[in-house]
Amino acid sequence: MSSLTTFEIHEPLDMHLHLRDGDMLKLVAPLTSETFSGALIMPNLVPPITTKEALLSYKQRIKDACKDDIFDAYVTLFFQSDYSYEFLEDIKDDIIAIKLYPAGITTNSETGASSMDVEVLRPTLSSMSKLGIPLCIHGETNGFVMDREKEFMPIYESIAKAFPELKIIMEHITTKDAIDLLDKYDNLHASVTLQHLLITLDDVAGGMLQPHLFCKPIAKRPEDRSALLNAALKAHPKLMFGSDSAPHPKHKKECCGCAAGVFTSPIALQVLVELFEKHNCLDNLNDFVSLTAQKVYELTPKKKTIKFIKKDFLVPAIYEYKNENVVPMYANETLAWSIEKS
Ligand code: DOR
Ligand code: ZN
Repeated sequence: MSSLTTFEIHEPLDMHLHLRDGDMLKLVAPLTSETFSGALIMPNLVPPITTKEALLSYKQRIKDACKDDIFDAYVTLFFQSDYSYEFLEDIKDDIIAIKLYPAGITTNSETGASSMDVEVLRPTLSSMSKLGIPLCIHGETNGFVMDREKEFMPIYESIAKAFPELKIIMEHITTKDAIDLLDKYDNLHASVTLQHLLITLDDVAGGMLQPHLFCKPIAKRPEDRSALLNAALKAHPKLMFGSDSAPHPKHKKECCGCAAGVFTSPIALQVLVELFEKHNCLDNLNDFVSLTAQKVYELTPKKKTIKFIKKDFLVPAIYEYKNENVVPMYANETLAWSIEKS
C-alpha cells in the first residue's frame, strides 16, 4: 500500500449511467454531476427515448437536475432496427451513441430488439456506420444466467465483422471471454462497472442474499473478475469505466422480486482510488476513468479536477429526496478515501 495521502483525478467520466426521471433523477443526478465531468446516459426510461422531442426534453431535465455543476450529460437513443437515415442524420449531433437492448433482457427493455440477426438490424446499423454513431450493446442472451454474456460473443462478432467501420461498445462486461474478444476486432470496445471489478456471484448469493449487489449481467466467477480487474488496472486501451449505476428505490430492492441494479454513483471514484492504490496502479486510473473514453468517443470533456484525501468516508445508509430513496453499494461502510469539497 502506498503512503499517499492525497490524489487527483482529472475530468472523470462515467460512460454508462442510469439517471431515471422525475424525483429519482433529481435525487441521483447531482450525485454524479458533483464529481464527474460527464456521463453517458442510458435511454431505458418508460417509454424509452426514441424521438428527438423526448431526447431534447430529457436532456433539459437532466441539465436542470444538475444545477450549476460543471458537467456534460451525453445522452443515448434507444435502438430500433428501423430508424431512417434521415432521422439519424438529424439527431446525430444531439446524441453520443445508440444503445441496443435485446428485448426483455433487463429493466425497461421490453421494446428492445426482438432479433439479433445482423440482417434484421442492418437498416439502422448501416446508417449508424455511415454517420459515425457508436453502438452500445447490452450483450446477453436469454440462456442460463451465468452463460448469457458468453453466448452473446458470436453476436458481437457478427456485428463487428458486418460493420467494420461501426464503433461498438460491449457494455458492462463481466467475463474473461469479453476481455479476450476485445483484442480480436479493432472496432470493439467495452465498459466495465465498479462492482464487476470487486465482486463475484459468491458476494451476491453465496451467503445471505445481497439484493443491493444484484444486477444484470450478474457478477460471475473469480477468474472473470481477475481478467476484468487486470485489464482495468493496466488501463487496457479499449476498456472504459462505466458504472452502470442503476438506482431503484429501497422497497424494490429489499423485497420479493428484487429489481436488478447496483447504485454506485456516490462512491465509485473513492472506491476506484482505493482499489488502484491497493494494486499500485494509481498511475493508470486517469486513463481508465477518462482518457480512454475521450479517445473512444472523441470527447473533450469540461475541465474538472477531483481531489481525494485519505480520510474515512462513512457511506450513507440511504439517499433520499421527497418520496424517492436509494441505498448505495457499501451503505454504512467506511471507505479509505474521501473527496475534498472545493
Ligand atoms: O442491473 C441492471 N440494471 N442492468 C441493466 O442492464 C439495467 C439496469 C437498470 O436500468 O436498472
Ligand atoms: Zn445499464
